[in-house]
Amino acid sequence: MPAVTAVAHPNLALVKYWGQRDLVRQLPLNDSISVNLSGATTTTTVQFDATLDEDEFELDGARPTEKASTRVSAHLEQIRALAGITAYARVWSHNSFPTGIGIASSASGFAALTLAGTRAAGLALDSRALSSLARLGSGSACRSIPHGFAEWRAGTGEESYAVQLAPPEHWDLQIVTVYFDPQPKAISSLEGHRAAPSSPFFEARLQQLGDTLATVRRAVLERDFSTLGMAVEREAISLHLIAMSSRVAEQPQLSGIYYWQPQTLALIHAVQRWRAEGLEVYFTLDAGPAVHLLCEAQNRAALLEAVGALLPTLGGRLLVSTPGMGARVVEEGEGEI
Ligand code: DP6
Repeated sequence: MPAVTAVAHPNLALVKYWGQRDLVRQLPLNDSISVNLSGATTTTTVQFDATLDEDEFELDGARPTEKASTRVSAHLEQIRALAGITAYARVWSHNSFPTGIGIASSASGFAALTLAGTRAAGLALDSRALSSLARLGSGSACRSIPHGFAEWRAGTGEESYAVQLAPPEHWDLQIVTVYFDPQPKAISSLEGHRAAPSSPFFEARLQQLGDTLATVRRAVLERDFSTLGMAVEREAISLHLIAMSSRVAEQPQLSGIYYWQPQTLALIHAVQRWRAEGLEVYFTLDAGPAVHLLCEAQNRAALLEAVGALLPTLGGRLLVSTPGMGARVVEEGEGEI
């Protein structure tokens, strides 16, 4: 069967997904909005081969952990079931960025795997079906399928997928990610989703989200940066308030989940100071210490200079992105590769 290579970018949530209504099928409790990050890429090749005794998976030239391999095999199993084939597959995957730094490699990874895997299995799924399927691998992966800005509709039944809100060229937003040495995450996103409803503030967050989604959607469509930035910043803090006030059932010694490191807080303060000084920049945070800084194109150089001045003290590194493309096939060949 043909070897197919697909490329996908991780995405940055502007309105976050936090909490699931179905833990097995990765169905979220709330809608979310994201933008693909052009500066980071996962490239994945899949080839089904009837002579294999099991799936073979290589990530960045090495054998990945048992947990990662099992997750990939489970996803290939879904693809085999859809295509009605039984052959195992070889999967080669490469990330252009380090894993475990707070940029979701699982989103770009499962988006690329879904596209390359379905094509290699002879399927031609449309964007919605690809997004739905990618979601089963990692929830946020469904938002890495459409190009540019995406909105993931939580839905009420089994259906849940992301659709495009605006193409990448709609807005040349600049996203500067400041990341720190990879640290094993104490509490995974999965555990965070599970624990979220235990926060006494979770219901309030869900109620607030309707307004936040409408504000962020409109701000993206109208390229209203000041409105977008403030809404995105408050939304990130809302997620972290939930995390900090959640109870992790399996770890009763924890009073809450703290994803921040001292550098995270230093950057939050720096952003507020830069804005007071006239440099319009906003931050957002995911489930980790990395900080994503947003600015408009005309402020990119000033922001890079301002962050650059802090890096020797903070010890972080930078990844610069603009709105990125969605998942796409880059090579489709017959036979061996
Ligand atoms: C905080 O369940 O998609 O990034 O599979 O670990 O990448 P992983 O996480 P997932 O949750 C993502 C949570 C989030 C917010 C978001 O991306 O919406």
